[in-house]
Amino acid sequence: MRGALVLLAPLVGAAVLTSRSDLDDCPGYSTSNIQQFGQRLTADLSLAGDACNTYGSDLPDLKLLVEEQSEHRLHVLIYDANEEVYQVPESVILRPECEKEPKESHLRFDYEENPFSFRVLRGDEVLFDTSGTNLVFQSQYLYLRTWLPNHPNLYGLGEHSDSLRLPTTNYTRTMWNRDAYGIPSGTNLYGTHPIYIDHRKNGTHGVFFLNSNGMDIKIDKTEDGRQYLDYNTVGGVLDFYFLAGPRPKDVSVQYSEVVGLPAMQSYWAFGYHNCRYGYQDVFEVAEVVYNYSRAGIPLETMWTDIDYMDRRRVFTLDEERFPLDKMQELVSHLHRHDQHYIVMVDPAVSHSGKRGSDRGVFLYRDHEQNELYQGAVWPGATVYPDWFNPDTQFYWNEEFKRFFSKENGVDIDGLWIDMNEASNFCPYPCQNPAEYAIENILPPPPPPIRSPPRRLPGFPASFQPGHSPSPSIPTKRDNLVQKMGNIKKRTSEKAKKIGLADRNLINPAYQIANLAGSLSNKTIDTEIIHAGDGYAEYDTHNIYGTMMGSASRKAMLQRRPHARPLVITRSTFAGAGAQVGHWLGDNVSQWDKHRVSIAQMLAFASIFQVPMVGTDVCGFAGNTTEELCARWAMLGGFYPFFRNHNEFGSVAQEFYRWPVVAQAARKIIDIRYRLLDYLYTSFHRQTVTGTPFLQPLFYVYPEDEKTFGNELQFFFGDALLISPVVGEGEDFVQAYFPDDVFYDWFTGAVVPGGSVTLRNVGLTDIPIHIRGGRIIPLRVTSATTTTELRKRGFELLIAPGADGRAAGELYLDDGESIEARAAEIRFEFAQGRLKVLGKFGYHPTVAVEAVTLLGQGRGRRHVTRVHIELTGPTEVKL
Ligand code: GLC
Repeated sequence: MRGALVLLAPLVGAAVLTSRSDLDDCPGYSTSNIQQFGQRLTADLSLAGDACNTYGSDLPDLKLLVEEQSEHRLHVLIYDANEEVYQVPESVILRPECEKEPKESHLRFDYEENPFSFRVLRGDEVLFDTSGTNLVFQSQYLYLRTWLPNHPNLYGLGEHSDSLRLPTTNYTRTMWNRDAYGIPSGTNLYGTHPIYIDHRKNGTHGVFFLNSNGMDIKIDKTEDGRQYLDYNTVGGVLDFYFLAGPRPKDVSVQYSEVVGLPAMQSYWAFGYHNCRYGYQDVFEVAEVVYNYSRAGIPLETMWTDIDYMDRRRVFTLDEERFPLDKMQELVSHLHRHDQHYIVMVDPAVSHSGKRGSDRGVFLYRDHEQNELYQGAVWPGATVYPDWFNPDTQFYWNEEFKRFFSKENGVDIDGLWIDMNEASNFCPYPCQNPAEYAIENILPPPPPPIRSPPRRLPGFPASFQPGHSPSPSIPTKRDNLVQKMGNIKKRTSEKAKKIGLADRNLINPAYQIANLAGSLSNKTIDTEIIHAGDGYAEYDTHNIYGTMMGSASRKAMLQRRPHARPLVITRSTFAGAGAQVGHWLGDNVSQWDKHRVSIAQMLAFASIFQVPMVGTDVCGFAGNTTEELCARWAMLGGFYPFFRNHNEFGSVAQEFYRWPVVAQAARKIIDIRYRLLDYLYTSFHRQTVTGTPFLQPLFYVYPEDEKTFGNELQFFFGDALLISPVVGEGEDFVQAYFPDDVFYDWFTGAVVPGGSVTLRNVGLTDIPIHIRGGRIIPLRVTSATTTTELRKRGFELLIAPGADGRAAGELYLDDGESIEARAAEIRFEFAQGRLKVLGKFGYHPTVAVEAVTLLGQGRGRRHVTRVHIELTGPTEVKL
């Protein structure tokens, strides 16, 4: 143990400083049976006095487990002695084990015996400190407080649309996944990521609370000015992972070791995507594809929202507006042009249109009576898949195989999953879900199929005017129920329950600050019990979306076993990035949402390890403007996931709608595509090491205090500093440049350090600066698709640091295989010589054709034509 777990002398009768008056009577726990072996310490905790039963009954007997899992990770788990209390299932997050032979830990665990409290230290620095406060562990309420230094720099605790650096007074972060239209600040949004990063001058650390129950995390000061952070959760156990840092990026890496490394994406997934809710029919979708090409704006992937469905029912086609033959022709057209196609799938299945029900793959209100649970989503009354039932994966796979079949269905390239918080339009208690049918919510659908309205050069004859509408083709419905015949029916068995008995699963006494009101409002009833192990929705609500993501990824993989599936989801839980990407939900076409998207994206990509992230470019709800859409296009060019999407009824906002927006889009896609291998390389590094590829400034300059609150500039990869214009009517940026060398992307000029006003930033501009010391691989020219782009030669952009040296990386593979042969190339530049080193397991068809050296006197940049094959190590004199 090397003395790392230090037992402090018990402090009898230590003063209890808990300031929550409702908890003042809680006695806390006393420690006994302390055992220490290897990297582990265990102890028993017993209620130290009369129960206070504030929000449920106090559990008399708990257990403590402390593990030094690695040099930089300490695990502290406080759970009930009977092990009846719900814990997040291993199928959602695989708990990391202790390393076999860990080096001496940087973290130290101290505790007081009576009443029990603990501290986590790194050297002399106290990182987490519950001393003087009594932990509360009740049947429906857990409470723990840590003291923090004054004016802490805290980040994380998603999903939210607040500042990147969290407020520190009177601030509550509620975690209860919610269909959060408009993404209001200060409220609970679609996902749950209970990790925070605490950045201090002498080091950074992270604290991950692995708990999926509804919770309020409160950050505030006591009356006498002491800073604290409180956990208040309505269930689960106290399961903490302390991550030692000491740099912010170390914490991100260490977090990836707990929740998993993010999934690698295909090369094409980084191309530009267009979507909207409300395309009237397949002709309109085709027209949009055509309009993009006519406007010279590269469109990599076209998307279709629920409009394609028959009365908004998943796994069906609207046979009038999106008939199968036309859909197949559209997809073939896209594929012939190296473009891609994605559609939406919601979890809720129309109650009347459902298949697979009598195998119990949906949630039951009453298992014994065979009564399905019903809510209401787009098609009206719906049932919800129960991801805990092992048969549900089979059902989901079969639906995907049939509906998305290459031969007889819609051959999608990626998947969009939505409404999986899960959303339910029907307020609790839901009396008549059928009332919420789409017809009752939205205006009537557009008239049935029109003959193609205008000429679409390049599209098949059936997409040209004069072609008569295709006859309605009844969608073939093979009998899934029959196919599932030999699967044991599981749900008629009496559902067992995991979790403490006798809980109020609808109205716990402690009410979290869920904006939707009570826990069950506008979602699945929290008293519903899942199949399989019998988990309650009360405990597992926050993982519903992630479980759908994981089932959907598997379903996509069985269609195309070798290709990396792109699955973009709305609802996430900690660790979701290992399976899916995330878009930030229903934002609004407003400047504040454009601005906050930077902080949201940084939190997901850098802290939560969900790097495939972006928000609806130009805004989802409301009407965008030409200026906002142009600015958003420029910023979106630096989102990992770059998609324009808007709402039914809002003004059309495809990039070709306004000349200036079209110009902005062409320019930024050109820059993005030239940088695509740099993006791909940086993203790939995160998927194998956890090192975040998008970073707030304080990640790169952790000692520079001026960076701590900066949430409007960010690093795209570790070489490019992006400083977007964020205000309406503005053409300038109040930028900050840390003390380093930065070159202007467009002119090559070196910018001075410190606060700088960047002026005359037109609507088609975005300030981009290259950090000295880096080499950026570029494609010499851009292209209209990423397939074409891969045929373009490379250029190396060398930006020497103050010492005249620079280095960079290039990762290359076939762009889509899961087990791909790869090249991992490193470039090093010093004293006029360029070295090419690394592994060359993949040979691109093109070579490096040019090297551009920045910082060359008045000319600023010097271009040398070269021919460097990227097939083995070499050295070149420039
Ligand atoms: C949800 C999604 C949105 C989508 C709409 C219709 O609001 O967040 O992106 O367009 O549903 O499917």
